[in-house]
Amino acid sequence: MNITDADTAYFLVDAAAWAPSVHNTQPWWFGTRGSTVTLHADPDRRLNVADPDGREMLISCGAALCTLRLAVRRLGHDPQVQTASDPERPGLIADVSLGPARPCEEDENRMYDQIRRRRTHRGGFRPEGLPAGLLQALRTCALDENATLRVVADPRARIALGALTEVAEQMLRQNPDYCLEMARWAPRPGSRRRDGVHEDAYPRDPARTDPHFAQRDFARGRGWGLTEDERHGAPGLVALLTTRTDERAAWLQAGQALQHVLLRAAENDVSAAFHTQALEIPELRDFIRTHFCDGGHPQTIMRLGIAEGESRSVRRPPEELLRPEP
Ligand SMILES: Cc1cc2nc3c(=O)[nH]c(=O)nc-3n(C[C@H](O)[C@H](O)[C@H](O)COP(=O)(O)O)c2cc1C
Repeated sequence: MNITDADTAYFLVDAAAWAPSVHNTQPWWFGTRGSTVTLHADPDRRLNVADPDGREMLISCGAALCTLRLAVRRLGHDPQVQTASDPERPGLIADVSLGPARPCEEDENRMYDQIRRRRTHRGGFRPEGLPAGLLQALRTCALDENATLRVVADPRARIALGALTEVAEQMLRQNPDYCLEMARWAPRPGSRRRDGVHEDAYPRDPARTDPHFAQRDFARGRGWGLTEDERHGAPGLVALLTTRTDERAAWLQAGQALQHVLLRAAENDVSAAFHTQALEIPELRDFIRTHFCDGGHPQTIMRLGIAEGESRSVRRPPEELLRPEP
């Protein structure tokens, strides 16, 4: 098998495209080069206001890389991944080639089957907790990718994190440039765009959870969003994903850990609601690092639980994402 033949490259990119990304910016493109499929960050899709350092962009690319690796495993090979940066190829995230043949294990197949099924949830969860043993499995998924999944178990700490999220959301909404950037990635109803967060991806009136975690204002006061009743308002398990260091390599690790955790969770019908607003404000991110992360660097804040109702999402097709590389 040749990784760069059209069908194989298409298969891999078609899977990787379903990784989560901040505001569904899908900040990536893929190439074929020699005997590798390449993954690149697309800086035109970076959030210049909310994410000037490209941290969330690289977490998103890390999630795409994890998915690409899993798709290579589905083909019955070990992936060989080079993530060193190359000054001649700015934006390069990874060169991925086919390693030795090895049949895809059953648990990898199950995880692969979640790639298109997994959805971000925005709202409350059912009251029951996570299935027995899942939390430990999710922690292991994060550790396997050199990141840590920290559960915020103390009720007072959960209240404090919810309050910090509210502060961040209100601060961000005061910034006109931030609001313009949100508008770019939250299209109006009926849009045929294949990126961004559409009105069928969030509830019009999300259930208030206790403690409450503010949602992003995708509708911008226009009453957009799904109207079905949300019956459940449990917050679920509040967790932080952290890394030991805080630079490009760590952000890519965080993204790979995130997707690994999310796919394993999805296998058990557990989804994640993200609340990363406070991590976009440097002072609040520092505060969260000092008080909630044991010195680790917080990369995402999320709630995990069992959701009801279907939210939808969109992706650009592989033919738009794949370009031959010189
Ligand atoms: C780094 C990162 C940060 C995110 N932050 C938020 C957030 O604050 N609020 C939110 O509703 N979704 C957040 N998301 C989820 C994305 O909006 C979601 O992945 C995207 O819209 C695609 O939808 P899907 O996950 O259902 O496929 C985040 C995702 C990533 C990777």
